[in-house]
Amino acid sequence: MELLDGKWLSQEIKKDIAAEVKKIIAQGGKQPHLAAVLVGDDPASQVYVRNKVKACELVGFKSTLIRREATISEQELMQIVHDLNQDDDVDGFIVQLPLPKHIDEIKVTLAIDPKKDVDGFHPMNVGRMTIGLPAYLPATPFGIMQMLERYKIDVAGKECVVLGRSNIVGTPISLLLSRKANPGNATVILCHSMTQNIKDLCRRADVLVVAMGRPKFVTEDMVKAGAVIIDVGINRIDDPTAAKGTRLVGDVDFEMVAPKCSYITPVPGGVGPMTITSLLMNTLRANRKEIYG
Ligand code: GUN
Repeated sequence: MELLDGKWLSQEIKKDIAAEVKKIIAQGGKQPHLAAVLVGDDPASQVYVRNKVKACELVGFKSTLIRREATISEQELMQIVHDLNQDDDVDGFIVQLPLPKHIDEIKVTLAIDPKKDVDGFHPMNVGRMTIGLPAYLPATPFGIMQMLERYKIDVAGKECVVLGRSNIVGTPISLLLSRKANPGNATVILCHSMTQNIKDLCRRADVLVVAMGRPKFVTEDMVKAGAVIIDVGINRIDDPTAAKGTRLVGDVDFEMVAPKCSYITPVPGGVGPMTITSLLMNTLRANRKEIYG
C-alpha cells in the first residue's frame, strides 16, 4: 500500500507555481491576483478562506479578502460580484459557499464572469468541461486528477466507482474520469442515495472515489484487494483521546481499508491540500488567459 500524499504533492506544485510567478514578474507581467468573498461566520468557511489566502501569499500571488456580515442583502453581494467582474487587476475570484439562506447561490454563481470563475462552478465552465473544451475545473476533482497523473495511476479501461453526485465533486469527477483524455478513459459508475447495491458496486471498483460526507462509511468488506481509494470526506468526530476532544476522519475507515489497497489518500493530508493548489493553478491560468484567450 502506498499513500497518495497530498500534503507533499501540493507543496511541490506550490513550488512550481511560485517559480512561475517569479518568471512572470521578471518578464514584466502582472502579478496573479485572487479575490475571495466570505459572507457570514461559518467556521469551516473561515478556515477554508484563510487557507486560500495563506496559499496565495506563499506562492507570491496578490490576494484580496472581502468579508461581509451574514445580513448582507443579495443585491449588495451581486454588486460586489459585478465590481470584481469589472476589476482588471483581479484575475479570478471565488464566493465562498454556503451563503446565508436569504441569498440565492445559483443567482450569485451565474453572475460571476466565466473568465474569472476560478472555482469552475459557472455553467459555462461546467458545460465546457463536459464537452471537452478548455475550462476552469472545480478544485477538488482537478486535485484528484493531478494526484492520479503525478502518481502515474492509469485509470484507462478501469472500473471507477464514485460515491456521491454533488455538483462540486461527484458529478464532475465522474465526467473527468470517463472523458477521452489522459488521465481518463475509465468506465465510471456514479452511486448516490437511491443506489440499491452500493456494497456490490464498491467491491467491483478498481478505483473508488468517496465523496458522501459520512464518516468511515467505506469498510474493508467493500473494497477489492489492490484498489485505489480516493477519500474526499472531511468529517469531525468526537475523540476523547485527542487533545481537542475531536479529530478529522474521511468517508473511508482508513485503518481497516488501507492494508487492502494499492494506493489510498489519508485524511487529513490527502485530497484536501490538493484543492487549494488547484485553485492557485486556475488563478495562474486566468492570469495567463489560457482558457478564454
Ligand atoms: N465551499 C466548499 N467548497 C467550496 C469551494 O471549493 N469553493 C467555494 N466557493 N465554496 C466552497
